[in-house]
Amino acid sequence: MTNAEIRALREQILDLVTEYYRVAHTPTPFVPGQTRVNYAGRVYDERELISAVEAVLDFWLTVGPRVMTFEKELARLLGIRRVLTTNSGSSANLIAMTALCSRRRERPLQPGDQVITPAMGFSTTVAPIVQNNLTPVFVDCELGTYNLDPTQLEAALSERTGAIFFAHTLGNPADMETVMAFAREHELYVIEDACDALGSTYDDQMVGTFGDLGTLSFYPAHHITTGEGGAVFTDDATLARIAQSVRDWGRDCQCDYTSPPGGACGRRFQWEIPGLAEPYDHRYLFVEVGYNLKMTDVQAAIGLAQLTKLPDFVAARKEHFARLYQGLKPYEEFLILPAWSERADPAWFAFPLTVRPGAPFTRRDLTTFLEKRNIETRLLFAGNIVQQPGYRHIRHRSVGALPNSDLVLRSSFFFGVYPGLDDDRIAYVLSAFADFFANLL
Ligand SMILES: Cc1ncc(COP(=O)(O)O)c(C=O)c1O
Repeated sequence: MTNAEIRALREQILDLVTEYYRVAHTPTPFVPGQTRVNYAGRVYDERELISAVEAVLDFWLTVGPRVMTFEKELARLLGIRRVLTTNSGSSANLIAMTALCSRRRERPLQPGDQVITPAMGFSTTVAPIVQNNLTPVFVDCELGTYNLDPTQLEAALSERTGAIFFAHTLGNPADMETVMAFAREHELYVIEDACDALGSTYDDQMVGTFGDLGTLSFYPAHHITTGEGGAVFTDDATLARIAQSVRDWGRDCQCDYTSPPGGACGRRFQWEIPGLAEPYDHRYLFVEVGYNLKMTDVQAAIGLAQLTKLPDFVAARKEHFARLYQGLKPYEEFLILPAWSERADPAWFAFPLTVRPGAPFTRRDLTTFLEKRNIETRLLFAGNIVQQPGYRHIRHRSVGALPNSDLVLRSSFFFGVYPGLDDDRIAYVLSAFADFFANLL
């Protein structure tokens, strides 16, 4: 077969993919009460399928041209020097925390050092602290924003405090001015878990880019998806190098698929292991106790297609949030509505609500009512992580009794604002709330 014939065959396959998408993936019309109103989900068309199939036809599979392009595009979007893609947001968090403990750093975190983190959040924002033999010091969250309460930072501080690690909850930017001023004053590292917050800004700056490292998740519920997937990013070249070693088995060599056999350094086979007479292959020089947490080229192909849609996705999330907020305002007597800083422009991940203490119904009453109407709800992650079975017995310290995190555990939930919603679905959700309160009052 000639090259032209091979190219024609490829075009034929991709045309068929488009056709297949149109017949097999066409969304069915919304039927109120019957169609489930999901809180999130993959939003895609034939472009993601074509991109993924092209990557399969090229069959690079591991980190290759698409992963590298995706990392560069993400770096450009975030305005940051280095993005490393990963196999999940949880892995990105693990890499970020582990990188700060590297003995290759001037001031590495040491076992037993303390990391200030909110008790209210997702499990794998806290897990890497414990996994690195560091001690979490839990602060409470604010109600409404559900972000770490910055007034508790001072009380959380000790001689062993080394870092602050927190998420921008549900895409809502934390109070970055206070957090960063506190971190600078006390020389603390900052990791921003922006897994739920791609596109959210604070003072017009992308969240995740204020601290030493930021992280993203591309799990389908998130702002863009690669199936499983995530990223860790930093402006610090040394940290980026360490993070890459941690991601890539712990090895020192950072050559990529474009590097010549002798290595980009030109002396690949001449590296030294102390005490060894013969030189060693840089590819197998291990400088960190690492993992393998890399993304595949097929995932990156899907990510590249999604990235072109991010501005529309973010705009839709904001618009859906605004309409739901207006529609739910009449019930403020019973529900704590979401709150955010004037300096923040959140690309909301979801719409959080807390049933006020003393309301004549429970969270379960409301979520059961919504679920019966086929409206998907979710609890606000771990609530108070200290109450979770896997975290009850970890070594930790807490600032006070964490009453707001406890209230979230008992009384908060969220539902969707994602781009897969439309006018009909939003009207349906609001009418369900109206029915619930009409029955109640
Ligand atoms: C704030 C936060 N951090 C981390 C994660 C973990 O991301 P992943 O599911 O990609 O591991 C999530 C999951 O949704 C999350 O909400």
